Amino acid sequence: MNNEKQLIRALPKAELHIHIEGSLEPEMMFELAQRNGVKLPYPDVAAIRAAYEFNCLQDFLDLYYQGMSVLLTQQDFHDLTWAYLQRCRDDNVVHTEIFFDPQGHTARGVAFDTVFEGIWSALRRGEQDLGISSRVIMCFLRHLDEEDAFATLQQALPFLDRIEGVGLDSSEVGHPPEKFLSVFQRAGELGLKRVAHAGEEGPPEYVVGALDSLRVDRVDHGNRSLEDSALVERLAREQIPLTVCPQSNLRLAVIDDMTNHPIRQMLACGLKATINSDDPAYFGGYVNDNFNALVNAIELNRDEILSLVRNSFEASFLDPESISRHLQAVAAAAEA
Ligand code: HPA
Ligand code: ZN
Repeated sequence: MNNEKQLIRALPKAELHIHIEGSLEPEMMFELAQRNGVKLPYPDVAAIRAAYEFNCLQDFLDLYYQGMSVLLTQQDFHDLTWAYLQRCRDDNVVHTEIFFDPQGHTARGVAFDTVFEGIWSALRRGEQDLGISSRVIMCFLRHLDEEDAFATLQQALPFLDRIEGVGLDSSEVGHPPEKFLSVFQRAGELGLKRVAHAGEEGPPEYVVGALDSLRVDRVDHGNRSLEDSALVERLAREQIPLTVCPQSNLRLAVIDDMTNHPIRQMLACGLKATINSDDPAYFGGYVNDNFNALVNAIELNRDEILSLVRNSFEASFLDPESISRHLQAVAAAAEA
């Protein structure tokens, strides 16, 4: 293993962009389908994997929603989240801020509290047994209307002391941030943090909309911001974090080849970029795999790796003391 890959392994890291439903590995999908008597349109695990060929975000989303249909019980959500936390441990991810898509489940008749309590119990186990801290971000599906998002926020009210913030995901183009202005405003009034996917397939104007209309604390993806130099200057000046997902970008054709990934340019422009897995079971790997893909393709160097890892903590929703404790641990690991 080269020095950069050893460094990546050794550094404690935070992950800020992971859809927990996107960590459903084909093996578990198959197992839960059998356990729950759900019929999948695949004869075996190999056939599931073989189906993961995407030309765009929508191709992926169609399979992603189909895949989550095997998740029915609190135990299912616990097992899913626990499996992800073990991958965090393997990658030395010591803090994670996970997304979940309540509407992907409540629309199928699975209750909000079944989903939430399953995820939550695994996160507590992760904290106790693995020492991994975590936050939960509830995403609204942007292909649905704002009324549906409001209904979801209403269902979440009893759980708000355990929900850090709201996000916005699913089909981007044709569903601009402004569509969700009121529900994000309400979420802000409730004291929730706000993030949104923007500039993945959608234009830079959607990133501006996420900032101005949704008042987001972070932008998820944000790649297409680079097409607008005034926006880049603003993101750099305001140090708005971007949660970048290299393997997702490649598999969803946001970039045509990993050698053309813009992460170096982002850092050079002063953007607060971080590296994340997005939907690791669908896109070919977890956090370290995403860093390693950049080492292989563009020779991501030591300074860049350290900046990205520091950014992951600085961009997190942890308290300032925890952030500085993590930054010290990063420095110590980098020394060693
Ligand atoms: N983009 C939009 N919606 C999503 C994604 C993504 O990368 N992953 C899961 N839902
Ligand atoms: Zn995402």
